[in-house]
Amino acid sequence: MKVLGIETSCDETAAAIYDGQAGLLSHRLYSQVAMHAEYGGVVPELASRDHVRKLLPLIQAALTDAGVQADEIDGIAYTAGPGLVGALLVGASVARSLAFAWNKPAVGVHHLEGHLLAPMLEETPPEFPFLALLVSGGHTLLAEVRGLGNYQIIGSSMDDAAGEAFDKTAKLLGLSYPGGPALAKLADSGTPGKLKLPRPMLDRPGLDFSFSGLKTAVVVALRNVELTDSSRADIAAEFQQAVVDTLVAKCDRALEQTGFRSLVVAGGVGANRALRRALEQLGRRRGVQVSYPRTEFCTDNAAMIAYAGYRRLAAGERDDLKIRATARWPL
Ligand code: KG4
Ligand code: ZN
Repeated sequence: MKVLGIETSCDETAAAIYDGQAGLLSHRLYSQVAMHAEYGGVVPELASRDHVRKLLPLIQAALTDAGVQADEIDGIAYTAGPGLVGALLVGASVARSLAFAWNKPAVGVHHLEGHLLAPMLEETPPEFPFLALLVSGGHTLLAEVRGLGNYQIIGSSMDDAAGEAFDKTAKLLGLSYPGGPALAKLADSGTPGKLKLPRPMLDRPGLDFSFSGLKTAVVVALRNVELTDSSRADIAAEFQQAVVDTLVAKCDRALEQTGFRSLVVAGGVGANRALRRALEQLGRRRGVQVSYPRTEFCTDNAAMIAYAGYRRLAAGERDDLKIRATARWPL
């Protein structure tokens, strides 16, 4: 079974072809990040308009890369939510209409299910059950993943997502959007601990996160120091360390609570090297395997949607002719 996957939930337009036997055949992505950088964040209307321009050529390119004709596609999977509703509608309308025209089944996929299953695209996929830490610009959560469709969220952020906190703090430090990677780079030349920031929620039991207080603490710290290149780097380093300490401590608790032997890290912040080092250390200490999807599948992509959709279509799932786009949709 060959499945075309489509992702347009935010600011990446993507298409991929997954084959049940041969695996991933192709994946294409266009990032709108340069367009939104000018505005310091994603502008929903511009995102939708750009998806309209880019999606069909990307689908065509993904088919060509895979050496697959349109009539060889057996089903279509698209991100049905959560995300920006106008952006979602573009992918959903194109996907549902192609399925209608080709007389093939379509299935709307939950974006976070895509992220949680992304590691299954790797050569040695993790075995179920595993603990997933999903840290992106839009979400921070810990989930028990026991199998397809069997996900239980056991911790999440009560306010900002980890990536959002990185981006907002980067903005405070005068770095351009999206600030996460820039802040991580600046942190390399700073020293954590010179300037103390809090480790939110560590004094409380449970697995939830909160990052907005940390951002406020940065605002206060910036008022109280003389801003030089070196003090900015120290604040970046301490901020990054505070986020890493918090994420690692919650993963430690969640591994203790679940007894799982495998931890999967997904989402854009999973690319952070300090976080990776700290989680690998945690894995060694606990005898737990820590794995990541390859970097390009940590961030938004259509390969993960094609895979999740393939699993659902192969299990016999079919959507009706309704075009599904749900901005808020619990997993
Ligand atoms: O998963 P993703 O590409 O998009 C969604 O939000 O769905 O994640 C993007 C987020 C942004 O907030 C970005 O700043 C952050 O991931 N990010 C990083 C790093 N690379 C990307 N944050 C910290 N360190 C990094 N190296
Ligand atoms: Zn995402």
